[in-house]
Amino acid sequence: MADNAHLPVAPHAMNLYIVTGTTKGLGEALAARISLDQDNELIALARAPDGPIRGGARFEVDLADTAALDKVFDRVEERIRGKGYAKAVLINNAGVVAPVAPLERADAGEIERNLVVNLVAPMLLMGRFLRATEAGAPLRRIINISSGAGRRPISGWSAYCAAKAGLDMATRVVALEAQARSLRVEAVSLAPGVIDTPMQGTVRSASAQDFADVERFRRMKDEGALRPAMDVAEDILRAESAGKLAGDAVLDLRDLG
Ligand SMILES: NC(=O)c1ccc[n+]([C@@H]2O[C@H](COP(=O)([O-])OP(=O)(O)OC[C@H]3O[C@@H](n4cnc5c(N)ncnc54)[C@H](OP(=O)(O)O)[C@@H]3O)[C@@H](O)[C@H]2O)c1
Repeated sequence: MADNAHLPVAPHAMNLYIVTGTTKGLGEALAARISLDQDNELIALARAPDGPIRGGARFEVDLADTAALDKVFDRVEERIRGKGYAKAVLINNAGVVAPVAPLERADAGEIERNLVVNLVAPMLLMGRFLRATEAGAPLRRIINISSGAGRRPISGWSAYCAAKAGLDMATRVVALEAQARSLRVEAVSLAPGVIDTPMQGTVRSASAQDFADVERFRRMKDEGALRPAMDVAEDILRAESAGKLAGDAVLDLRDLG
C-alpha cells in the first residue's frame, strides 16, 4: 500500500490547489474555475499583492527569485499545517516565452530568467510541495504546464524549448521516485495546446528576423485556432478530477479526448 494512502481523511476534507501565475492567461482561468467549487481551497502564487481571493488566498512572489520562492513556500506551509486534505494538487502554470531571438542575439539575463521561471521554480516547488503535503493528503498530484515546444525545436525559442524539455524530464524523474517509494503521487508534464492568452500576443509581436515562424502564429490567431483559456482550464481540471492524468508522466491535453 502507498505509504501515505492510509492517512485518515477527515469528513468533508477539502481539496488543496496551489497554482502559480494566476494574474492572467491560463493561470487566471484555472484559479477562477478552481474557486467555483466550495470543496476546493486555493493558494495562488503570483506577482500580485497578498490578500484573500475567491476560494482562498494569494501570496505575492516573483518566481524568478528563488530565495523569495523559498520564503513564500514557508507561508504556504504555515497555512496548510495540521490540516487534512482529501487531495493536494500543485499546478506549476507560470511561464515566460522571452527571449524570442536566435541564441546569439538573445539577452543573457532573459535566458537566465526564462530557465528559472520555467524550470528551476517548478522543480523547487515540486520538492517543497512533496515535503509539505506528505502527512496531509492521501492523494497528491503535480501538474506541470509544459509545451509542445519542449518536444520539438522552434527556431528563436531556445530557452523556452530547453526549459520545457527539462520540465518534462524532471517530471518523469519525480514520477519514478514516487513510484519507487509506492507514494500515491501522480506527476504529469502536460502540453495544453495553443491558447488565446497574453503569451500568444508576445509571440505574435516578435519580428520575422527573431522568430521565423511568426506568420504561422499570426495566421492561427486570425483563423480562430487558439482555444479560450477557460476551455483549456476546464479540460485540465476535468481530466485531473477523473484521474486521467495518471500513468504517463508526459502528456498532451489534445490526446486525452
Ligand atoms: N498560450 C499558449 O499557447 C501556451 C501553449 C503551450 C504552453 N503554454 C504554457 O501555459 C502556461 C501559461 O501560459 P499563458 O499562455 O497563460 O501565459 P501568460 O498569458 O503570459 O501568463 C503567464 C503567467 O505566468 C506568470 N509569470 C510569469 N513570470 C512570472 C514570475 N517571474 N513570477 C510569477 N509569475 C510569473 C504571469 O504573471 P505576470 O502577470 O506577473 O507576468 C502570468 O500570470 C505557461 O507555462 C506556458 O508556457 C502556453
